[in-house]
Amino acid sequence: MKVAVLGTGYVGLSTGVCLAEIGHEVVCIDVDERKIDLLKEGKSPIYEPRLEELLIKNSTEGRLAFTTFHQQGLREADIIIIAVGTPQSDDGRADLSYLEQAAKDLAEHIVRDCVVVVKSTVPVGTNEYVKQLLLGQLKSNVEIKMVSNPEFLRQGSAIEDTLKADRIIIGSDDVSASEKIQEMYRPLNVPFLLTDVRSAEIIKYASNAFLATKISFINAIANLCEAAGADVEDVAKGMGFDKRVGSAFLNAGIGYGGSCFPKDVKALLHTSRELGVPFSLLEETISINEHQQELLVDKALKRFGTLNGKKIAMLGLSFKPNTDDMREAPSIKIARSLTASGAEVAAFDPVAASNARKVIGDIITYVDSAVEAAKDADALFVVTEWEEFKQHDVAALLDVMKQPIIFDGRNCLDEAALKACKTIEYYPVGRPAVILKGND
Ligand SMILES: NC(=O)c1ccc[n+]([C@@H]2O[C@H](COP(=O)([O-])OP(=O)(O)OC[C@H]3O[C@@H](n4cnc5c(N)ncnc54)[C@H](O)[C@@H]3O)[C@@H](O)[C@H]2O)c1
Repeated sequence: MKVAVLGTGYVGLSTGVCLAEIGHEVVCIDVDERKIDLLKEGKSPIYEPRLEELLIKNSTEGRLAFTTFHQQGLREADIIIIAVGTPQSDDGRADLSYLEQAAKDLAEHIVRDCVVVVKSTVPVGTNEYVKQLLLGQLKSNVEIKMVSNPEFLRQGSAIEDTLKADRIIIGSDDVSASEKIQEMYRPLNVPFLLTDVRSAEIIKYASNAFLATKISFINAIANLCEAAGADVEDVAKGMGFDKRVGSAFLNAGIGYGGSCFPKDVKALLHTSRELGVPFSLLEETISINEHQQELLVDKALKRFGTLNGKKIAMLGLSFKPNTDDMREAPSIKIARSLTASGAEVAAFDPVAASNARKVIGDIITYVDSAVEAAKDADALFVVTEWEEFKQHDVAALLDVMKQPIIFDGRNCLDEAALKACKTIEYYPVGRPAVILKGND
């Protein structure tokens, strides 16, 4: 099938590459010339495991092309997938301006009957709105059918999640359009849920809001555990054995971030207010998360009295491991609070430093290794649970630190390994701080 994908961000690019991988002819269109130039050279503008490998393979085999010209990309498409951003507006609602522009671009350049798929995360009713925009501005006499097909991939495992999705949601009021999209995805062999457009739109927000709430819930329990002298890791394990609860998303830490959860919870809350349906649970989810992002700085302030002149090593900047995405990363708030309190911060992230610099700026120093960050540090903050931090030789970090104090915001350091080092003050999340007696 001939597919055009509008927007080559995390979702559009992963989708385009994977659809080419299962045999479709795909053209990815983006307005960002820098991205398209890189992609034409076989380089991925974002970091995602396996993305570049499949990008090169499918481009070389002639199934995947990139362009900034809508006309060129849309000319032959049977299916057009919209995957442009829907960021948060100032008032919390989803900003649909990229989508509106995309609809305008499509209306201008569509020259044949096709199915338009909205993959971007959009508030309930948006597919109908996009259809009206398209029909109102179409330049050619063609038939357009709409399908809502929200995306569930996770950054850091976008390719794996696309090729082995748990489910594919297809929301449409048109049977032939729904069948066409099923045919496109059939080689993936993933279960379909066929539904109406509005339910498909809500499924996406409901899923993300539920997961975010699960995270805030376990973080609230973590704070309770800390105060009560209990261990949230065991509590989460005990809860997770119950199939009704499930063990996923029960990792206590410094809160959720990223390009989706924060904005999607706020957008759903906005929708609920617009529809006059109270949903204060979401307000609490947001408030717990905001508090949680301040946790490490609060603990350090309590420990040191003042952070003025203290040197802090930050391990991790991206909002989660295996991605270079800094959108709404807890590290941003942490870096700003630390420096506002007079601390000097040296940060290391395996891939996100250059994106981090664009958001956080030069108020902190970006270094090339965990050991360099730890040099002369009064404390170490573990902010993102990159595998390499979990595996790191902690003794090598402690050797260069001024004081052996660790605030582990992701509970990802191995306590047994820590105990094998020198005596450490260790501050995890959701269990009381401990002095780990070591081999000094
Ligand atoms: N990132 C995720 O993990 C994720 C997961 C599921 C769903 N989503 C949703 O998918 C959508 C896209 O997210 P993303 O993270 O990939 O966004 P992104 O910001 O990484 O990418 C969006 C891309 O669209 C391009 N674009 C904007 N207007 C355009 C136009 N008129 N024509 C062509 N290209 C255009 C931009 O240049 C950009 O490259 C959002 O609605 C998001 O909520 C994201």
